[in-house]
Amino acid sequence: MQELKKKILQEGRVLSDQVLKVDSFLNHQVDPQLMVGIGKEFSARIHEGYATENKKVTKILTIESSGIPAALTTGLELDVPVIFARKKKSLTMTDENYVSQVYSFTKEETNDITVSKKFLDADEHVYIIDDFLAHGAAAHGLIDIVQQAGATIAGIGIIIEKSFQDGGQKLRDLGYPVHSLARIKSLRDGIVEFMEDEHS
Ligand code: G4P
Ligand code: NA
Ligand code: NA
Repeated sequence: MQELKKKILQEGRVLSDQVLKVDSFLNHQVDPQLMVGIGKEFSARIHEGYATENKKVTKILTIESSGIPAALTTGLELDVPVIFARKKKSLTMTDENYVSQVYSFTKEETNDITVSKKFLDADEHVYIIDDFLAHGAAAHGLIDIVQQAGATIAGIGIIIEKSFQDGGQKLRDLGYPVHSLARIKSLRDGIVEFMEDEHS
């Protein structure tokens, strides 16, 4: 997605060979117009998928916090509800929950993520969205929750995939359609290098 790549080049800061800081439009301050564009783009990729799949997406699932804006604009395009998995159990979360463990490579700790059973049924067809894809720990936690519900997965939408880490490959090897709007090949020497792909 050209507009997103431009934004990354203009405003992203390479903190190390592994980490890109994009807090001016994605992880702290949020660019609403860009998020609307991202919602349209994910929606277009989902509609392409309908050519080979006859089930329609019924729900979007993301994880708090940075996945929420793009999940919302995508849900608006598709006219389906958006769920965000919680990282901390809320006070009012007294219902039965689906819980999965997510290992954070950056924090080196495992945390529970939680979704109320009330919002995910076996007949849902779920599209998963997250802001970054690194090793895929968060995506695997969300997949686990969808599977616990007995629901199916339509695909995985990622805003920024770091293709030099193994999360994307693992998800594609499992057969999930992965829609990444910007795929970063390398962050070496402080330079953002994108992968060549057909959806640029
Ligand atoms: P993984 O889920 O793909 O395995 O990655 P990891 O454990 O490394 O991710 C921990 C957090 O760091 C996640 O956000 C993830 O989105 C984010 N992250 C990973 N790589 C990058 C990067 O290069 N740049 C930025 N800006 N973030 C990265 P989180 O802690 O869950 O926070 P939130 O922003 O969603 O609230
Ligand atoms: Na994040
Ligand atoms: Na995230």
